[in-house]
Amino acid sequence: MKVAVASDHGGIHLRQEITKLLEELDIRYEDFGCNCEGSVDYPDFALPVSEKVAAGEFDRAILICGTGIGMSIAANKVKGIRCALVHDVFSAKATRNHNDTNVLAMGERVIGAGLAREIATTWLGADYEGGRHATRIGKVSDYEERVEQ
Ligand code: RB5
Repeated sequence: MKVAVASDHGGIHLRQEITKLLEELDIRYEDFGCNCEGSVDYPDFALPVSEKVAAGEFDRAILICGTGIGMSIAANKVKGIRCALVHDVFSAKATRNHNDTNVLAMGERVIGAGLAREIATTWLGADYEGGRHATRIGKVSDYEERVEQ
């Protein structure tokens, strides 16, 4: 598995925790910043990184901002991206099992590093169950196709 990681200025510290975790888990990753002193705009990171996942350059992405909300809104604008904003371990597992999410968003100002590590570990390790969930995801993909025309 190859994972892309990015944050805005509000998520730098948690992003560092997550890249440390990926190294511990021996998961390949690329860190897309931000390498910033001041404030930056989350779409400038969420959109290009999500496009890389949608294009198949990366299997998954983890995006972090202050709340995780901006990152998740932007990521979900990219066709083929299913991004979940997750701040609990139950949802981390459920969103892989049921929604086949390929992007995880978290907020550094919302949860601590310990919980974020558990969420990321759970999300990275959980499989998609398919079946009835595939019908539901298919309806979202069909909508994406329709509105594009
Ligand atoms: C930046 O101050 C903050 O708005 C951003 O990190 C994020 O929380 C937006 O959703």
